[in-house]
Amino acid sequence: MHMEDRFRLETEKLLKSWSKHDRTTLRNYLVEDVQDPRINIQSILSRHWLVEKLFGEKFADLAEHELRFGLVVNWLLELLKRQVRTDRLQAVLYALISGQKNAEGIEIPSYISQTFAGLALPNYICDLLNWAPVESTDEPVPEYIMTTFQRIWSELLAEEKSKKISVLEPACGSANDYRFIDSFGISGFINYTGFDLCAKNIRNARQMFPEIDFRVGNVFEIPAEDNAFDYCFVHDLFEHFSLDALEIAVSEICRVTSRSICIGFFNMHEDKDHIVQNVDDYHWNKLSVSATKKLFERYASTVQIVHIEAFLASRFECRDVHNKNAYTFIADF
Ligand SMILES: C[S@@+](CC[C@H](N)C(=O)[O-])C[C@H]1O[C@@H](n2cnc3c(N)ncnc32)[C@H](O)[C@@H]1O
Repeated sequence: MHMEDRFRLETEKLLKSWSKHDRTTLRNYLVEDVQDPRINIQSILSRHWLVEKLFGEKFADLAEHELRFGLVVNWLLELLKRQVRTDRLQAVLYALISGQKNAEGIEIPSYISQTFAGLALPNYICDLLNWAPVESTDEPVPEYIMTTFQRIWSELLAEEKSKKISVLEPACGSANDYRFIDSFGISGFINYTGFDLCAKNIRNARQMFPEIDFRVGNVFEIPAEDNAFDYCFVHDLFEHFSLDALEIAVSEICRVTSRSICIGFFNMHEDKDHIVQNVDDYHWNKLSVSATKKLFERYASTVQIVHIEAFLASRFECRDVHNKNAYTFIADF
């Protein structure tokens, strides 16, 4: 199969858009702050999807606790961005301990107090609210708190056995999610292949994981046989394509995957049409949920849609997600 010229041109522009960043930026910029895969709800859900494929419902309770952890740390980051000072964070802690809903003007959402009540004392929320950074707060959350669930998962999964599954990740960046698939103890159960258009990303990824199959590749033309992989997951990619290229990319990932695909979108809406937005040399589209679903239904037997905002509201009564346009799709074949 040969790629049409129009996709070749689009590929060149996409390449230009990402290659202008230096390697250090590429290594870090998508794993910081709310995008850190340890607290980013869509990254957490993709890991849970993999764990569920491997071990069924066995870890459902832990998965639930980890989602809560993500919400709590996101909430704290938001407070820090509003320059809430250390003494007020401690007031939040006292309010939580004494069951109050408001701490000197800071309203405590129910998902925070419920999560607090469900943890033994002392717990990571005490640590988060007690850690005394500077006056205000450009300090990131300390690593020992950020790694709370990484430690639990890797310890528990070390006890497990499972037949390996093959997993493809297009647009893997600088192993942005794979780093945590590895540090959470999931990598031993999968034959992973990651590819990205941008060679600097692949150099970064290989430097971190020389043993792992990271390669330069284009989602418009995946060099793999039909059904070559059991599973595929991909984050934050499809909004950046022209609509024709979107169709090609979806057909390609569906062609090479035999069982299920988990796709994280960052910019969708519920209207019936896509909104195409050109930004410099690429796109920053707002994709229609229903039109994108139809696209996947050409190949998949079922397409499950998770609107992250609605999911967090119904499951945890959380009503302050930072990205209301985020959706995760699960397409099963
Ligand atoms: C917004 S980043 C997302 C990276 C990673 N999935 C994450 O969530 O952190 C988009 C990535 O897609 C890659 N990319 C863009 N067009 C591509 C294409 N046609 N094929 C493969 N990768 C592509 C870029 O190089 C970039 O690393």
